[in-house]
Amino acid sequence: MIFGTDYYPEHWPETRWDEDLRLMKEAGLDTIRIAEFAWSIMEPEEGIFDFGWLDRIVSLAESYSMKIVMCTPTAAPPKWLMDKHPEIYQKDEYGNVRGFGSRRHYCFNSPVFMEYSKKIVKAMGDHYKDFKSIIAWQLDNEYGCHNTVRCYCSDCSKAFSKWLEEKYSNIENMNEKLGMAFWGQHYPSFESVILPAHTTCDNKPAGMYAHNPGLYLDYCRFASDSVYDYSLMQVDVLRNCGIEVPITHNFMGSFFDLDYYKLQDQFEFISWDCYPNIAHGPFSSLSEVSFNHDKMRGYKNKKYWVMEHCSGQNGWNYMHKTPDPGQIRLWTYQSVAHGADGILYFRWRPCLFGTEQYWHGILDHDGIPRQRYEEVKETGKELRRIDRIIDESEVVSEICVINSFDNEWSHTYQKHSENFDYNKILHTVHNAILDLGLNCDVVDMNIDLSKYKVVVLPAYNISSDKDAEKLRKFAESGGTVVITFRSGNRDEFNKINGFTLPGYFKELCGIEVINYDAIGENPRKVSGITGELLANTWCDVLNPLESNVIAEYTDGFYKGSPCITRNSIGKGSVYYFAADFDREGYSGLLEHITSVAGLEKCIQGRVRGVETVVRSSGSEKYIFIMNQLPTPVYVPLERKYTELVENRSVSGTMRLEPYGTAVIY
Ligand code: GLA
Ligand code: GLA
Repeated sequence: MIFGTDYYPEHWPETRWDEDLRLMKEAGLDTIRIAEFAWSIMEPEEGIFDFGWLDRIVSLAESYSMKIVMCTPTAAPPKWLMDKHPEIYQKDEYGNVRGFGSRRHYCFNSPVFMEYSKKIVKAMGDHYKDFKSIIAWQLDNEYGCHNTVRCYCSDCSKAFSKWLEEKYSNIENMNEKLGMAFWGQHYPSFESVILPAHTTCDNKPAGMYAHNPGLYLDYCRFASDSVYDYSLMQVDVLRNCGIEVPITHNFMGSFFDLDYYKLQDQFEFISWDCYPNIAHGPFSSLSEVSFNHDKMRGYKNKKYWVMEHCSGQNGWNYMHKTPDPGQIRLWTYQSVAHGADGILYFRWRPCLFGTEQYWHGILDHDGIPRQRYEEVKETGKELRRIDRIIDESEVVSEICVINSFDNEWSHTYQKHSENFDYNKILHTVHNAILDLGLNCDVVDMNIDLSKYKVVVLPAYNISSDKDAEKLRKFAESGGTVVITFRSGNRDEFNKINGFTLPGYFKELCGIEVINYDAIGENPRKVSGITGELLANTWCDVLNPLESNVIAEYTDGFYKGSPCITRNSIGKGSVYYFAADFDREGYSGLLEHITSVAGLEKCIQGRVRGVETVVRSSGSEKYIFIMNQLPTPVYVPLERKYTELVENRSVSGTMRLEPYGTAVIY
């Protein structure tokens, strides 16, 4: 496994470098990631390249037998370039230039920027192609961070017209497919098509909700494709230089503007930036982090790296809480449990200047190793003891949740009900499955379903007959499908298909939706096979047709009508959930469904606040048990196990210290 840190030698006097590397080495860190923002140092003037400083840090690292992840520096275009070509800047929804002063101030569709990027990437590729210490390349840094996937400049406008023309061939076809008859929006030509920016009846952010939903969805796809093309250019340049080591990019967890299922195919492995101590959403950071880990594994269906792993308090204009002693170690285990086989801590030492002065790392500002350094060192030692198991084992799941960026973009634009939140629904269902002691994959519909026993499609709205057919085959051969409310309703153009709901999935579910209620924050009561439940957000009213009713509403005007149904298809089953539930509600329902489907829990006794994930190697199962709480917990074990890291036998009730972990088999 890779165990390293993100290092910025350009921020420190060269006289300090040796001490830094010595301390890294002493802590067991074997890899540094470097150079992702250093364009202005590498090319201080147009065409004048200076890799001297980078060569010196690389050769010093080599003298310590350290490995290197080299980055292309395009996330930070230099000022001389921006002054010469201000057309590279992005424009916001109001047409304002998003100017210099931060980073990522470039438009992915700028032909000029494309050319300058090629030059710097090629210069780096040519210079570093033969360095054996470079084990991987990272392209750019967090594409799309700071809302930079979607831009509204004239280069984007031209590129969007071209993208649409390639897709629809003639403008009449586009007008018809996207429904431009509504409010008389027929476009006379592809050149006349607008970017869905600021308009009348706007909502915040500008452009949201007001535009044709089909055009908006195409714009989201186009913007995502633009990043794809820009990124592929960098891959091609490096490969043409003769670089053969893996290329990756650091993805983001709770980030939705880029179709990562598409982007992943450029890279040999996925990496991502994981900061459990900042909650991104309205839910707890830890459950969100587990969900994001499983998403990352699902993009390529293989192990991945955490390219930036939290190692101290974070902050820009103020600081977030410092990790409690033990949490950096815990989060590292959590990453490994979910499938990471590379961890690089962000960052080695907090900077004394710049926007991220407050963003801490392994060391403190004064460069002195203290508690966090010792914790990283200890964690590394432990992980090296189980290195072979980490290499050989995989996370194998019998159940998956289907995710989709088309649906993310469509649901976010028109969200059905006031508190409808697609990502939150996916996340809640995923966490409910983890709570049962089951591994859970998060994948898209291109996945080979035959490796699963149960497939869950929350709010799978943009879909097709092809999807329905794929699920039918899966069910016929014995699979279990769970489909929820707001599924099967829209076609690929983001248009409501007009079929009786659940649209494409009606036959499969063996039901029809005869009415629905966007209940928002007013829950309805439901009673059924798993007891009493509360339905949130949305209630479909069902005619069960040939399916069995396994839960029904007990209030509202649809009291007595079905809320959850089960249909038999071949050797399998298709369940329909007509409403949204909380984590416990989903957990109860899925416990019933997965036990009927024959899924095996990794461990029986579930303890609140304790996460369990299994990595398997052949028939051997290694159960990672992680106490997320600042208090000790007691985990009941139904048999005798061996604890892998300490190599001791455990049975009965196992005590885990605050933030403690155990790997048992
Ligand atoms: C107004 C308008 C209609 C329609 C409805 C619903 O009444 O006149 O065209 O937009 O609102 O939004
Ligand atoms: C992201 C970026 C890093 C740094 C950290 C902390 O993960 O990739 O460059 O900015 O956030 O803000």
